[in-house]
Amino acid sequence: MDIPLFKIYWDDDDLKAVSDSIKRGMNWAAGPSILEFENLISKYTGRKYAVVFNSGTSALHALLLAYGIGKGDEVIVPSFSFIATSNPVLFVSAKPVFADIEEETCGLNSEDVRKKITPKTKAVIAMHYGGAVSKEIRELKKIAKENNLLLIEDAAESFGARLNDQKVGTFGDSAMFSFCQTKVFTTGEGGSIVTDSKDIFEKLKLIRAHGRAEDSNYFSTGEYMDYVSLGYNFRMADISAALGVSQIKKVDKLIEKRREKAQYLTKALSGLMLNDIFIYDFPAELYHVYQEYPIRVKSGEEKRDSLKKYLSRKGIGTRISFKPIHLTHFYKNVLGYSGKLEVTEKVSREALSLPIYPDLTIKEINYIAQEIKNFYG
Ligand SMILES: Cc1ncc(COP(=O)(O)O)c(C=O)c1O
Repeated sequence: MDIPLFKIYWDDDDLKAVSDSIKRGMNWAAGPSILEFENLISKYTGRKYAVVFNSGTSALHALLLAYGIGKGDEVIVPSFSFIATSNPVLFVSAKPVFADIEEETCGLNSEDVRKKITPKTKAVIAMHYGGAVSKEIRELKKIAKENNLLLIEDAAESFGARLNDQKVGTFGDSAMFSFCQTKVFTTGEGGSIVTDSKDIFEKLKLIRAHGRAEDSNYFSTGEYMDYVSLGYNFRMADISAALGVSQIKKVDKLIEKRREKAQYLTKALSGLMLNDIFIYDFPAELYHVYQEYPIRVKSGEEKRDSLKKYLSRKGIGTRISFKPIHLTHFYKNVLGYSGKLEVTEKVSREALSLPIYPDLTIKEINYIAQEIKNFYG
């Protein structure tokens, strides 16, 4: 069998949406699908404004610029994340300060965040891991408020997740989503910021398009529009946004399918009664969207790595999400980061993500479980 780590869900509606955008024969860059997609994101999340970008990374970069974070500032971030949670802090010449995580949802540990606050701290970026909601997100909001800090959610992996009835993306001052191909719905590459601040919304639009004050479609009017601040080309193409419109309309269905498959997988793995395999038991109030299906190999790195190799030989894709950012070559040897983050490093040694996607079959799930059993003999 060949079971990849993820498979993209697509259907005829996606094909039609993209081909309609192409067939217009114009506005492949800034086109009508951009605003339509932004309106749907803002409606889904319940935030006033959404601005789409060509990636989640550029969205987060733009957001830090919009908040005026820069040289001399510190931003508290998790090290247990994809590197794009902390790199944007460097892009704006500020300093990422790493805090440890809790073990239940692998979000930031609020106690450790408190310890990392200095007079230079301007913001906390909380990452929601693999489709979860960071369990301490409300406590993090409280800490941010008490210390006059911004709380930014890196919700790249958790579109649609909820804590009780509150959706990811609505806890912080602003939040970022990624629509890269591994996410719960996708535009190939892409990302978005959601916020309730009109000021940040206006700044994001300037940063996204060269600092150009646009009062209509730049490409179709041909009118001169002035450049009022420094900006980038972080725009999403209309073709991608058309795909986003079609994908977001079925996101609830895709999440339901992921949750159903995750439930089967949990049942199959639990049935193995393997002491060495830790299966997450997420808090009942958490509506998890299973962008990833993480397990942990309790005996540690060596065993985890051989399980990974074994599964790969059996045609099963896995991934280590995540190795700590502060231990990457770049952060450790080039930037000189050192220091220990106990829980981050422990979870990283044990973490292994198994395949999960809407169309994962029961046969595939049973095969994954069987091969894990075979590995342990
Ligand atoms: C936690 C996290 N942050 C940031 C990103 C960056 O998003 P993108 O790949 O769209 O730039 C990703 C996705 O890859 C991610 O998983």
